[in-house]
Amino acid sequence: MNRSNFAHVRAVGSYAPPRRMSNDELALLVDTSDEWIFSHTGIRFRHIADDAVAASDLAVEAARIALDRAQMPADEVDLILLATSTPDHPGLPATACVVQDRLGANRTAAMDLVAACTGFVYGIETARAFIQSGSARTVLVIGAEVYSKIINWKDRNTCVLFGDGAGAALLCASGEDNPSRVVDSVLYSRGQGAPALGRPAGGSRTPATAADGSDLYLAMDGRRVYTFAIAAIIEAIESVLKRNDLTFDDIDYVVPHQANVRIIDAAAKRGGFDPAKFFTNIAEYANTSAASIPIALDEMVTRDLLKPGHRIITVGFGSGLTYGANLIIW
Ligand code: UT7
Repeated sequence: MNRSNFAHVRAVGSYAPPRRMSNDELALLVDTSDEWIFSHTGIRFRHIADDAVAASDLAVEAARIALDRAQMPADEVDLILLATSTPDHPGLPATACVVQDRLGANRTAAMDLVAACTGFVYGIETARAFIQSGSARTVLVIGAEVYSKIINWKDRNTCVLFGDGAGAALLCASGEDNPSRVVDSVLYSRGQGAPALGRPAGGSRTPATAADGSDLYLAMDGRRVYTFAIAAIIEAIESVLKRNDLTFDDIDYVVPHQANVRIIDAAAKRGGFDPAKFFTNIAEYANTSAASIPIALDEMVTRDLLKPGHRIITVGFGSGLTYGANLIIW
């Protein structure tokens, strides 16, 4: 067991279902408009899974791309961490196990991780800890979501915000000579805010069989989440910088959870951070929860924005309420 291991991101991949829904299409379903949605969120489109498609289907596609790019056979993966709030099944079996089987990752441990929109950030830190402790050498961190299955398509307060998709990052052990690594993370939970965002029923508190149907959908206090999110982004970025004796000038990109462009702009302004360093692609995908950061990372790689040695911060926030950030040298 080598306890001096570092963890680096070796490859990323992402996948969004082909069906692309515009704001104008949504305006045929609920009382909304392209103008309202875009001006309040920055969203133009979202990708929506077909009825028969579940989170594991999207996860497998994204994971295969990451593994192909790394030229790594699936059975070399030691651990699959699947961050999702929209698992194939409620609670069990873990969707990660379905993905493990479909990938043919035959000597792999697999588990789901529930930290809502912060799930990928929690997953990266969990992977780093497994690798750094020597418990694993290769960890696949996946965020995969099909919020289209849990939103009320008659509720304009929520249905305009979300989309489906998956992103994956393959983390591998490396030695001190490789500067590319996950340097540090900060992770937080503020459970007093739990009622602000979640599904009121369908768990052991109020089983689906005892629920009023509407309680099975996602419910959100949008204003409260908005205020929380701005403060969370600023605190997470400032904390991870301070812990590592860095300033914002040392950072090349921030890759925030893609919830709302206004949230990101307000956090940059209030935190005194250069807004040009915040990557956004929410216009195309809307909010894909745990998948949004790895989908963004994949787009940045594809567009050749990320270079070896770049210092980036990924920052997530969401239901729980949870928030956190990873500091990564690419
Ligand atoms: O991953 C984290 C997940 N959640 C979030 O990130 C959500 C955080 N919150 C937000 O992003 C914002 O609060 C929203 C985008 C959800 C809402 O924006 P807002 O500027 O806070 O709007 P609001 O809730 O204050 O509503 C303003 C008006 C209301 O009408 P009245 O009462 O002023 O007449 C709403 O009924 O906008 C109305 N409205 C809409 N109108 C057209 C709310 N949703 C819509 C809609 N289309 N889809």
